Amino acid sequence: MISLVTLYDEAELGPRLQSWLASKDIACHCLAAEIHAFPDGEIRVRVPEPVSETVVLICTLDHPSEKTLALTFVSDVLRSMGAKRIWLAAPYLAYMRQDIAFHPGEGISAASYARLLSRSVDAMVTVDPHLHRIPDLEDVYTIPSTALHATDIIGDWLKDRLPGKSLLIGPDRESEQWVTAVAARCGQPFRVLDKERLGDRQVVIQVPDLSAEGLQTVVLVDDMVSTGQTLMKVARALRSQGIKDIRAVFVHALFGPETAAEMHDAGIGELVSCNTVAHPTNGIDVTIMMGEWVQQQLQA
Ligand code: R5P
Repeated sequence: MISLVTLYDEAELGPRLQSWLASKDIACHCLAAEIHAFPDGEIRVRVPEPVSETVVLICTLDHPSEKTLALTFVSDVLRSMGAKRIWLAAPYLAYMRQDIAFHPGEGISAASYARLLSRSVDAMVTVDPHLHRIPDLEDVYTIPSTALHATDIIGDWLKDRLPGKSLLIGPDRESEQWVTAVAARCGQPFRVLDKERLGDRQVVIQVPDLSAEGLQTVVLVDDMVSTGQTLMKVARALRSQGIKDIRAVFVHALFGPETAAEMHDAGIGELVSCNTVAHPTNGIDVTIMMGEWVQQQLQA
């Protein structure tokens, strides 16, 4: 018997994972860790039922400043209740983009965050972390850490949804790994653009003239969307070239409703994400991938 303990599980991965594991005859129970917020902003966490020696702690790590503290506290409670193995299932892993000191004196948050999490749990699984200048999670995490990839399920999802002549576009060099794999899976051509980031909301992207290519649909593919500026920049350029059907598919949705509206105004007709972070754009389910990882851990 294993315990699935959920924390901030808005995407309801916990119950879905429980059903999938049950379908594989893996006995597990699922419970939600409770968080009480005191008036002064401190929190108290509680695990309301006994747990097994093996615990899968499910907590996706958008809004990490709030969630990471609770995760650390819950992990301590689980250990005090007898948990011997705590495996963190964090479909979105924060801080991976800050993988270098861009300016003197800046912190390398990816490494600091890795040290912090590595002290709280015994293994970790995540989906498409932003591995760029850090090639492997275990270069910074000192616990066994697995990066699963959603590119196959994204490619499969796209396969029957692209009418006529289509092109996939990765908006920057960092997206190359995702767009290449998705394009191979769904059998569509792709291009990767060059982006220069000047600030949090300011990017410059070289968009080639595609107006003569007779494209029916362009799909922008990226690992994450935050301010939406990257995708909007490309979409506006494509729209000015007369391309009407512009869509975006990405793994992690980190934006609010106002940004979604802005992206639609910029010409992106459809926005679809994986359910690594609970979001209205969720359309592609990562539960099976996560379940298979748990299954493999148990067999190891
Ligand atoms: C960065 O390289 C990532 O792959 C995304 O392109 C980036 O984080 C998107 O950010 P935003 O939506 O704020 O432009």
